[in-house]
Amino acid sequence: MAEALDHYGDGVWYDAEYVHIRGDVRYYAAVARGVGGALLELACGTGRLTIPMAQAGPTVVGVDSAPSMLAQARAKRAALAPPERARLSFQSGDMRAVRLGRRFDGVVLAFNTIMHMLTDDDLLAALRTARDHLAADGRFFMDLHTPRPDLLDRDPEARYDPQQMVDPRTGYRYIVTENNRYDARRQINTMRFYYQRVDLRGEAIGAERHTEVQLRVLFPREVDHWMDLAGFRIIEDWDDFERTQPFTGRGGRRVLVAGRR
Ligand SMILES: C[S@@+](CC[C@H](N)C(=O)[O-])C[C@H]1O[C@@H](n2cnc3c(N)ncnc32)[C@H](O)[C@@H]1O
Repeated sequence: MAEALDHYGDGVWYDAEYVHIRGDVRYYAAVARGVGGALLELACGTGRLTIPMAQAGPTVVGVDSAPSMLAQARAKRAALAPPERARLSFQSGDMRAVRLGRRFDGVVLAFNTIMHMLTDDDLLAALRTARDHLAADGRFFMDLHTPRPDLLDRDPEARYDPQQMVDPRTGYRYIVTENNRYDARRQINTMRFYYQRVDLRGEAIGAERHTEVQLRVLFPREVDHWMDLAGFRIIEDWDDFERTQPFTGRGGRRVLVAGRR
């Protein structure tokens, strides 16, 4: 099989792939309205959340380490109305190490991104970056997958969750499927996303391509522990972005609000 492409190597593609995910966009826009002031989004990617947050009122800085993701974020920023554009900036940086020399009313680390921190040192470094940028009474907002045994025990050869996407540059339609191989000892989930171009009847055209990402699976009490070690206290803990269900660990998602301890 062909070598895996970089999952964050094409920001236009990323936006097209995740265009259907809306629950977190509504949630973080509401977060931004509530925080007011200044917000920092670590690992902001293409600005999928950063831009709606800036449109909700506060000034927002987005930091990411992937050039193509930042290029797409900057292209979308350039198309905004001048007042929104003025409230928003993007910069290149590694969330384990970046120090902007200022504090924010809110810091966001969204969409499972903490799970990219595969080692304990990296995980703690990223959480400390968030804390070091938070004002004394500021709030840290993070969401991530919480492990569901049925998802981890998937057949590594099978394909799951078919979705459609369209590359806006070509108009070509793709069927996206995924699978995962879970190393239970290391708690690393290797996810592959497969992209098959199809015609209007759904027949395959050309070769399939795929990307691969490794995610560290974090069980609830581990997250409690790392948050505490990084100097956070958890203030709100939910199963969902609608904040209807306090965190049970069964819902597949954890939506956290924390402050400095
Ligand atoms: C799942 S995407 C989330 C992007 C965006 N927050 C969103 O919700 O669409 C993860 C992002 O983390 C970025 N990333 C991964 N490791 C990073 C690091 N060490 N420092 C900064 N960004 C990083 C990737 O480039 C990618 O844009």
